Amino acid sequence: MTSTNDIRRSFLDYFAGHGHEAVPSAPLVPYNDPTLMFVNAGMVPFKNVFTGLETRATPRAASSQKCVRAGGKHNDLDNVGYTARHHTFFEMLGNFSFGDYFKEQAITHAWTLLTREWGLSPDKLTATVYHTDDEAFELWRKIAGLPEERIIRIPTSDNFWSMGDTGPCGPCSEIFYDHGPNIPGGPPGSPDEDGDRFIEIWNLVFMQFEQAVDGSRTNLPKPSIDTGMGLERIAAVMQGVHDNYDIDTFRALIAASESLIGVKAAGATQASHRVIADHLRSTSFLLADGVLPSNEGRGYVLRRIMRRAMRHAHLLGAKDPLMHRLVPALVTEMGQAYPELGRAQPLIEETLLREEVQFRRTLQNGLKLLDEAVSSIEEHNSPGELMTLSGNVAFKLYDTFGFPYDLTEDALRARGIGVDRAGFDAAMAQQKAAARAAWKGSGQAADGEVWFDIAEREGASEFTGYNATSGEGRVVALVMGGKEVASASAGDEVVVLTNQTPFYGESGGQAGDAGTITGTDGLVLTVTDTAKPLGRLHAMHATVSAGQIATGDVVHLAVDVARRDAIRANHSATHLLHAALRHRLGGHVTQKGSLVAPDRLRFDFSQPVALTAEDIAAVEAEVNAEIRANEPVTTRLMSPDDAIEAGAMALFGEKYGDEVRVLSMGRLTDGYYSVELCGGTHVRALGDIGVFRIVSESAVSSGVRRIEALTGEAARRWLVNREDALKGAAGLLRTTPDDVEARVAALLDERRKLERELAEAKKALALGGGGGAKAEAADEDIGGVTFSGQVIEGLDAKELRGLLDQAKQRMGSGVAAICAVNDGRGAFAVAVTDDLTSRFSAVDLVKLGVETLGGKGGGGRPDMAQGGGPDGTKAADAIAAVRAALAG
Ligand code: ALA
Repeated sequence: MTSTNDIRRSFLDYFAGHGHEAVPSAPLVPYNDPTLMFVNAGMVPFKNVFTGLETRATPRAASSQKCVRAGGKHNDLDNVGYTARHHTFFEMLGNFSFGDYFKEQAITHAWTLLTREWGLSPDKLTATVYHTDDEAFELWRKIAGLPEERIIRIPTSDNFWSMGDTGPCGPCSEIFYDHGPNIPGGPPGSPDEDGDRFIEIWNLVFMQFEQAVDGSRTNLPKPSIDTGMGLERIAAVMQGVHDNYDIDTFRALIAASESLIGVKAAGATQASHRVIADHLRSTSFLLADGVLPSNEGRGYVLRRIMRRAMRHAHLLGAKDPLMHRLVPALVTEMGQAYPELGRAQPLIEETLLREEVQFRRTLQNGLKLLDEAVSSIEEHNSPGELMTLSGNVAFKLYDTFGFPYDLTEDALRARGIGVDRAGFDAAMAQQKAAARAAWKGSGQAADGEVWFDIAEREGASEFTGYNATSGEGRVVALVMGGKEVASASAGDEVVVLTNQTPFYGESGGQAGDAGTITGTDGLVLTVTDTAKPLGRLHAMHATVSAGQIATGDVVHLAVDVARRDAIRANHSATHLLHAALRHRLGGHVTQKGSLVAPDRLRFDFSQPVALTAEDIAAVEAEVNAEIRANEPVTTRLMSPDDAIEAGAMALFGEKYGDEVRVLSMGRLTDGYYSVELCGGTHVRALGDIGVFRIVSESAVSSGVRRIEALTGEAARRWLVNREDALKGAAGLLRTTPDDVEARVAALLDERRKLERELAEAKKALALGGGGGAKAEAADEDIGGVTFSGQVIEGLDAKELRGLLDQAKQRMGSGVAAICAVNDGRGAFAVAVTDDLTSRFSAVDLVKLGVETLGGKGGGGRPDMAQGGGPDGTKAADAIAAVRAALAG
């Protein structure tokens, strides 16, 4: 038997041998195409090559492309499990010519590979052509020698292929395999063509046009070829089975679920096993390509597929979560062809397990509600009438029990009951209206209502920026001055919203992204900031530099990568800082606020006292050690409870959604250095931070401290500036940076010495030794008491006592008063020799002088007292006041 892996290999080898470049499959999420939810055909990654926007070195390529058809134009989800050939995930083998060969060679290659290389019998093959395509008809006759009745002209869109509502398209020619007369069905175009006998295996598209939004078509630069062959279908043919689910890959996956659940796939259980096997493939591949379950957009499609599979596991009686245990079997089957599957295996298993645990919590109750509703429908139903579940019940199942709409539909399908979709939509609309009313009631700015309008109409913008920094987006709204506009042109300041964007909207302390938006006809916008109104729209604040932008346009979005990288480094460093602070200071440290900007980070945290210099040095050293260890940063998606159990630091009182992103970084003997819940963007490995430098530590409010720090280039520049300042100081000091400290110490010593000398000189001057102008103290006799009163300008108050002691000695018996005047203030002191202290108290006398100087108090002992006042111009009056007191 030819294995599916062999067929894939053989296809690529054949085309590589005929001048084609064998290209690895592109990821399932088409970042280059905002009009598609998932890659749904082999040509999608080459779309811009067909239209001439991009060129490739080689004009021929071949691939085995991962495809998901579970949303948008090609959606097969509802049929999976119940038919032989529907899949949400499949592989498309394709060969492509970009303006190189056209119909003749495409048909030649297809025919040669099928009949010569792979040995299929020509008798089993039938071709179709678009009804007006005489050229293709002739070629099939000429190349394959097919009789005319086996070249069937088809007049419908079945033979005109287009990628989506827009994009490259053209007439096509399909090759059908006849599985034999014992299977009911007729050839294509016949009344019973829907039977299973004739199966389309290969579609050759003659790409000639590009379709615009309005449905009009223009010629592609050059006619090209796009072909697609479902690997599962050709494997069925080559393995001699009729049903895709009987090929080797599916048999292995179904065998795994049979043995884990202990229920064989036969009769009624077959559909469930098939659903599980198919959905295991789509969910695992989507997870490996970075899609995570959520309640919006691609993430919601993933969740719907997962939960559909999980319900079928439950239906088969699986006691424990099943899906994650099937992943090893899938990796064995497909991991060699798609290495990303093996790399992401832990993430896939963890996410499936979490989702299944979470879903199983409500599944039982939801099914009970459903059963009750069904019994009542069946009871009240009159025979022959269509049975329908009310929209309200479907909505309750969705809202309360996490049953996506199509899961409810799927669950009722076997019992012949439909669901009232309109009623479901109405209940959903009512809930949204209530949310808007509640929001309005909360008194938020009226101009914010425009965001509600947009969010309701368009849903959340999908953020693609965890994995990419550029990509395409479709403009869904433009806002100017708080109002929606249809277009904006050069010079306008406009807020741009696209269905998907790599621009991070400011949240969680992390600054919004800046960058550029470009488009056709020279359109250029400069984005200065991105906000996140309502927490789910990414609003890019931009100025139109050239051209015109309009809603519906597909534009190229490019984040300023250097700026984003600096933000990433600061954000990851903030997590490390948080962990280092807790190590150093204790578990009481919790985040109180944070700002992650491109040029710096600021972190506020609970801590009663200032950090010492040693604390700061230790925290900084620990963070830098983690950076140098350069461990990768890992992101996982968990329920808030699981995250907290895993040791994540959650913010008390913060509201978290169903899932949280858990960021783990750094090393520790038994776990990660830091685990935090965080929606921000981070470095891939800690070494990307470069270097971490704390530049300030201060108080914010009582019990809250703030650290400001720099990383990477900003930190390096800061250190260089410090070094430059040090070099400048060394230059002024005429020494080297190493000797600056010693030199400054010596200068300070010298300064202290000079100050001492200066004080001495002033004193000497005051005492008359200097020969300058001064007030000479003349001893006076006042009623038999010797008095010396003196005003000295510029004398330091510290010198007063020494001078008064000298005066006492000189007089032997008497009273001395000095007022020293400095900077307009007067310092006043009085001394009384011991023999006179019984008559005059220095304390009383000094108070008189202090009062005169406009001051208060003054004190000391009876023989010596001191004080001062603000009005130095009254110095002589202060002396006079003492003189008067002595005179009695
Ligand atoms: N793009 C073509 C298809 O998907 C080949 O059928």
